Amino acid sequence: AGLPRLYDPGFATTAAYSSSITFIDGGKGILRHRGYPIEQLVDKVGFDELSYLLIFGALPTAYNLALWQQAQSQRVTLPTCVRSVITAFSPSAHPMSILIAALSAMSASRTSLNPAYSGQTVYSDAAGRREAIVTCMSAMPVIVAAIYRHTAGLPIFSASAVPHKQSFATRFLHMLNGGDQSKSLANTLDILLMLHADHEQNCSTSAVRHLSSSGVDIFSSMCGGVAALYGPLHGGACESVLRMLTRIGNVDNIPNFLERVKRRQERLMGFGHRIYKNYDPRARIIQQEARRVFEVVGTVDPLIQVATELERTALQDDFFVQRKLYPNVDFYSGIIYKAMGFEPQFFPVLFALGRSAGWIAHWNEFLDDPDRRIARPHQLYIGVKGPRDVPDVTQR
Ligand code: SDX
Repeated sequence: AGLPRLYDPGFATTAAYSSSITFIDGGKGILRHRGYPIEQLVDKVGFDELSYLLIFGALPTAYNLALWQQAQSQRVTLPTCVRSVITAFSPSAHPMSILIAALSAMSASRTSLNPAYSGQTVYSDAAGRREAIVTCMSAMPVIVAAIYRHTAGLPIFSASAVPHKQSFATRFLHMLNGGDQSKSLANTLDILLMLHADHEQNCSTSAVRHLSSSGVDIFSSMCGGVAALYGPLHGGACESVLRMLTRIGNVDNIPNFLERVKRRQERLMGFGHRIYKNYDPRARIIQQEARRVFEVVGTVDPLIQVATELERTALQDDFFVQRKLYPNVDFYSGIIYKAMGFEPQFFPVLFALGRSAGWIAHWNEFLDDPDRRIARPHQLYIGVKGPRDVPDVTQR
């Protein structure tokens, strides 16, 4: 309650939602989840605690954390229809397209969690809501790992291979390649999942809220979130950043590239943000993590030199300074994912894996709102005034 439900002239033509999950001050580069600054959360807790905080509103006790991890690690069986949908795609298909289809298959397979089959009650009682949340949180790593293995031409693991009571990141990496994970790799992934977990009313989260408002099941709402995130201006940017850095090739080509950006023949992917007109706090953390990863893997990817020099040059250039264009969360994340062995087209899927915690939190918050209504943004009609008569055929 408080903010106008769907439309206010001050909000141009987009819907306005009220939420207590995440606070952003774009001018100051501040990001807080339930009041906790992202910098402290990354220092002191992991993705499992953060996902619990976003969804249930408080940091978990050690006991609740163990239950949260155990509940997810007990649901790691990929439904047959979801496996069939994933493997029906060519391994060369874009993994975000496969993820959308797989989540839709989940919607059809978990009928007890789908109001279309069981009526609205499934979401109005606490047990049904919790079952939907845990099923969705645990299904994402299972589905994403299966898509990764299928697109890499590898057999999809059976559920039994997954160790119990592990962190979300460790469980996911285990489902990815079954081997013992380097603690450092799991720690880096955990930080990346945290930095992508939630970001208030971004395009994909608002899509999930819109879909949720019609009463559709959680998996179908998530399909909409993934589809929005797929776009190169949103989650697809991390993939575009890596392709841009590869195209630039070396630091000598940066001045010419930036001139093309100023002539609007290129876009500086990974720069700019609708809300942040200052440094994206997540970009700072990811930049530090990128340097730490390269110390661990022992090589420094030449692309990080290009990225660092590109950032340094752009931040001194009036074109970017005047437009308050700073690196955003996507500028460095792709370099780390690449160092971890992922291909560019898989980067937005990893973004979706972290963001699933935020989507579920907003879905849950929307259902808790006693005076929730179906989303119906106001339209500013700018067409022909009318009414006017349809001309006879002879006059057309
Ligand atoms: C994410 O909303 C969220 O929170 C998203 C996100 C999340 O966590 O969910 O933070 C994740 O999506 C981050 C953004 C990733 N996308 C990119 O990196 C793509 C490149 N960035 C841009 O396309 C752009 O900055 C947006 C889409 C991110 C923001 O666009 P806006 O706020 O609508 O800005 P704008 O298009 O109104 O641009 C203002 C000016 C324009 O110049 P003028 O026409 O006024 O002269 O800045 C220019 C733009 O041309 N501009 C850029 C630019 N971004 C804006 N010019 C070159 N390169 C860019 N990246």
